[in-house]
Amino acid sequence: MWAKTNWRDKPRVQMPVYQDQKKLSSVEETLANFPPLVFAGEVRNLKEEFSRVSRGEAFMLQGGDCAESFSEFSANLLRDTFKVMLQMAVVLTFASKKPVLKIGRMAGQFAKPRSEPFEVINGQKLPSYRGDIINDIAAVLESRDPDPERMLQAYTQSAASVNLLRAFSQGGFADIRQVHSWTLESTRGGTRYKQFSNLAEKISEALEFMEAAGVSSNNTQSLKKVDFYTSHEALLLEYEEALCRIDSLTGKPVAGSGHMLWVGDRTRDPEGAHVEFCRGVENPIGIKCGPTLEKEQLLKLVDKLNPTNEEGRLILISRYGSEKVSEHLPKLIRIVKSEGLNVVWCCDPMHGNTIKSKNGFKTRPFGKVLSEVKSFFAIHKTEDTYPGGVHFEMTGKDVTECIGGSQEIQEEDLSSRYHTACDPRLNASQSLELAFLIAEELQKFEK
Ligand code: PEP
Ligand code: CO
Repeated sequence: MWAKTNWRDKPRVQMPVYQDQKKLSSVEETLANFPPLVFAGEVRNLKEEFSRVSRGEAFMLQGGDCAESFSEFSANLLRDTFKVMLQMAVVLTFASKKPVLKIGRMAGQFAKPRSEPFEVINGQKLPSYRGDIINDIAAVLESRDPDPERMLQAYTQSAASVNLLRAFSQGGFADIRQVHSWTLESTRGGTRYKQFSNLAEKISEALEFMEAAGVSSNNTQSLKKVDFYTSHEALLLEYEEALCRIDSLTGKPVAGSGHMLWVGDRTRDPEGAHVEFCRGVENPIGIKCGPTLEKEQLLKLVDKLNPTNEEGRLILISRYGSEKVSEHLPKLIRIVKSEGLNVVWCCDPMHGNTIKSKNGFKTRPFGKVLSEVKSFFAIHKTEDTYPGGVHFEMTGKDVTECIGGSQEIQEEDLSSRYHTACDPRLNASQSLELAFLIAEELQKFEK
């Protein structure tokens, strides 16, 4: 029997130790009485969408910040990332002739696993920053104490974000007739700007034709609205447990913190607390698959997280790095195929391609990101499996965090607009560029 509290008896990693247990309990109680951020029916719909992806009938685009932050929070920022994702989805739909499932790393992506428990900043050794839901990024000792009350602020910010995202996706902003207006100022003049304008022009012409034939967004909901889902790593289990709810229709537990959850590369111990929590909720669950994932562990994970081999439940998010993907991904695919497991294949080309620049910034070379994506598609072609989706750390902000791309961002440029609270993100131009390059790969899978 599963209970939402059972994870407490399992070994936990990457989670804070709260000093003030009374304060923690009070926060947990408050959260447990708050409304969930997402609803069971939406989670069921998302699983249905993922089954379509697993059958090769749709493609998935997942993107957003590495870590959302309390300070970098505004309607304009959310809007701009949403715009870039709409643009990318249009490019991918046009190429694949398939619907594109859109999922934000948004409205809950606040807790971060860290490689090291301590970091040295300006010669001072500090406990690592673990995301705004846990502690404060400021480089002073007191800021790094985990504070349970930060969960309440993360909840409030997530509620406001999900509210705005629902309004953007349902309220006319995402109407396909608005395709021209999704272009961001920062991408104007870039090499892909013209290509997107041409695409938008073609879409407008097709819409005019369809309107003359009686089909328009006035009478066709799918042209007027999009479905947009939220996702984050299920890392801070006190928060996840407090927002877990029972689906009144099915009587089954659902995580109410976001539509899709994933288990990180550092927290995917089949016997650990994170897998224990995730196995009991009905949401689609991602597993980050890095180079240390062995066959035996994968099979245990699948057995725990998807014992009935349900379609649309499990998403394997490979993140090997451009140099390791050819060694590991074919092996992973063959295990899954030989066991007859239902999974969605997704590529995260970010987390295996992080390097330190000469001037000390964590960065990712655009060429390596692209190279991992290309290998992902080529390997699936060879193995005759369907590359179902991509997972990016990206923002609508005009940042300089990843080097390369058609803007040719150099290591020396990193300091000019390096704003991330954790890992380096693709900016709007780089994201759009990547979408066009992925579109070329996807066309090779057209049936
Ligand atoms: C992440 O997605 O931000 C992350 C930390 O990924 P991984 O668990 O794959 O390292
Ligand atoms: Co990250």
